[in-house]
Amino acid sequence: MSGSIPRERETNLIEAKDAALKFGTTMALDGVNLLLSPGEVVSLTGASGSGKSTLMHCMAGLVTPDSGGIVWDGQDIAVWSAEDRAKLRRERLGFVFQFGDLVAELSLLENVCLPLLLTGQKMRKAKVAASEILELLGLTDEQLRRPDQVSGGQAQRAAVARALVNQPDFVFADEPTGSLDSSNAILVLDAFISAASAVNAGVLLVTHDPDVASHADRRVKMADGRVV
Ligand SMILES: Nc1ncnc2c1ncn2[C@@H]1O[C@H](COP(=O)(O)OP(=O)(O)OP(=O)(O)O)[C@@H](O)[C@H]1O
Ligand SMILES: [Mg+2]
Repeated sequence: MSGSIPRERETNLIEAKDAALKFGTTMALDGVNLLLSPGEVVSLTGASGSGKSTLMHCMAGLVTPDSGGIVWDGQDIAVWSAEDRAKLRRERLGFVFQFGDLVAELSLLENVCLPLLLTGQKMRKAKVAASEILELLGLTDEQLRRPDQVSGGQAQRAAVARALVNQPDFVFADEPTGSLDSSNAILVLDAFISAASAVNAGVLLVTHDPDVASHADRRVKMADGRVV
C-alpha cells in the first residue's frame, strides 16, 4: 500500500467516520463523524476530557481508532502503515501546539526550515521559503533570533509559520493560543487564519476559548467522546 495520493486527484477532504476509541474503560471517542473541507477553519470546543485531542490525533493518523474509519480523499488511512501515515503528515499536514515547541537552540528561520529539510529540500531553498512565510506572519525582523529572544506571541507566530511552510492541506492546532493573554491570542489567531488562507490551508482549531472559536468558519462541539 502506498501512502502517496496523486495530488491532481485530491479532493482534500479528511473525514472521521463513526470513529470510536477506548483507553481502558474510558470511551475517548464514541462514534464520531466529522468532515473537514478544503480551506475551511473549523473550531473544536468542549470540556476537558471530551475527546478533542484524541479526535485530532486520530484524524492525523497518529492514533488508530478501534473501529470506524479515518478517510483522506476517499482512502481509509487507518489501514495504512505507520510510515505511510508519517509521510502523509509530513507532506499534507502542519501542527501547532499550545507551547510552540520551537527548538530552543535554533533561530526562528531555522525552526521554520525544519519541515522542508525533513522532506529532503536543500537548506538554501528552504531558507527562501521559510523567510517568505515568516514575512507573512510579520516576523521578518525577528527571524534570526532564537525563541528565547522573542515574545510569547511572536514565538507562537513562528510556530504557525513552521506549520504552514510546507503548504499543507490542513493545519491541526491544539490550543495554539492557550499560553497567551486574550488580546495577544486574538492577534496571533488573526495572523494564523490569514496566513493559512494565503496558502490555501484549512485549519482545525482546538480551543477552550469561545472568543477564539468564534473566529472559525464553523464551530464543532464535543461532549463525552461525541460531536454534539
Ligand atoms: N493515552 C491515553 N491513555 C489513557 N487515557 C487517555 C489517553 N489519552 C486520552 N485519554 C482519555 O481520553 C479522554 C479524552 O481525552 P482528550 O485528551 O482527547 O480530551 P480533550 O478534550 O483534548 O481534553 P483537554 O481539553 O483537557 O485537552 C479523557 O478521559 C482522557 O483521560
Ligand atoms: Mg486536549
